[in-house]
Amino acid sequence: MIGLNIKQSMAGRWFFVVISTFTNIGPMLLYLAGGLLIMKYDSTITVGDISVMVALLTRMYGPVNSLLNVQVDWMRSMALFTRIFEYLDMKSEIEEISQPKHIDKPEGNIVFDHVNFHYEPERPILKDISFELKPGKSIAIVGPSGSGKSTIINLIPRLYDVIGGSVSVDGVDVRELCLSELRNMIGIVSQETYLFNGTIRDNLLYVKEDATDEEMIEACRKANIYDFVMDQEKGLDTMVGNRGLKLSGGEKQRISIARILLKDPTVFIFDEATSALDSISENKIQEAIDPIIRSKTSILIAHRLSTILAADEIIVIKDGTIAERGTHKELVRAGGVYQELYETQFNKNETPADIDLTGAVIAHEE
Ligand SMILES: Nc1ncnc2c1ncn2[C@@H]1O[C@H](COP(=O)(O)OP(=O)(O)OP(=O)(O)O)[C@@H](O)[C@H]1O
Ligand SMILES: [Mg+2]
Repeated sequence: MIGLNIKQSMAGRWFFVVISTFTNIGPMLLYLAGGLLIMKYDSTITVGDISVMVALLTRMYGPVNSLLNVQVDWMRSMALFTRIFEYLDMKSEIEEISQPKHIDKPEGNIVFDHVNFHYEPERPILKDISFELKPGKSIAIVGPSGSGKSTIINLIPRLYDVIGGSVSVDGVDVRELCLSELRNMIGIVSQETYLFNGTIRDNLLYVKEDATDEEMIEACRKANIYDFVMDQEKGLDTMVGNRGLKLSGGEKQRISIARILLKDPTVFIFDEATSALDSISENKIQEAIDPIIRSKTSILIAHRLSTILAADEIIVIKDGTIAERGTHKELVRAGGVYQELYETQFNKNETPADIDLTGAVIAHEE
């Protein structure tokens, strides 16, 4: 990167040195030559003629300068482009096999079978993770920060491949599946919502090119972002800024929920943000995802009790292994990692009236 910067700023330096030397020396030489001519040889040349020549010369520098600048710009762009092309030429680590399998009727049955994983060999991240997510059900993954929760979900759309064991969807190992089909089946609202620089509309159309305005509005309504969109002067055509910079964390997440609703994937994955949102914003997100969790096969990485309670089963990850699993009630009673997390983290934002500390959840029991 430093090399690139140096290359970029060095390109053209030499041109500028030469050009500015000429701009300064040029008129001097003309005056000198003119003066000598008048004195020694040809007295028909006047001082006026020479002044005109000098004036013309300086006017010529402008265009010549811009012409030379083209060359400098070209060199600078090439320095950048080489870098971009190097990046494009990089081979993807995840490759589709030559004859990928297809799933006719995706159901969203996800099985982790003794999965081991590391980013760097000396530091194992996941150790012997096994669980099954049945179609229509939902699993909440909880655990301390850095325990490997996001890593688990990254393995499903094959952002990385497992080192040992396997991840399969509807009975087919993900490594044998058609990649685009696999990724189409899965909708992820990630911890760090990614929006690209464009309008809200562009960001929504990205998942479904042919979505109509009605569909988009419906999705925004369900994702609880409709009022916000309508409050904007330009509505759906509001620019979100680079990486969604002009929106708050909660607004970004709700737009990405609207995206998921448009995409309507078989499996819904929600990696809940750890960063604190205010409770109004959290409630809006909760309201938006609750119906999705109920209607779709989902995996939720949860930090808030209300999200955890929406799931059918809870898996507690600690140091890359499954430490405990069960329902909220069972886990609180067991008095292990979950109970500790529950007391220190989960119930911070919930109203105490909702929860009876023996583990019976009054408001959410159906
Ligand atoms: N791309 C990567 N390269 C190397 N190490 C990574 C990478 N991504 C994550 N890690 C490491 O893997 C471990 C697990 O990370 P992961 O993101 O799965 O944690 P998490 O349980 O989702 O945490 P949080 O609750 O804070 O989101 C961490 O120690 C992290 O430093
Ligand atoms: Mg995470």
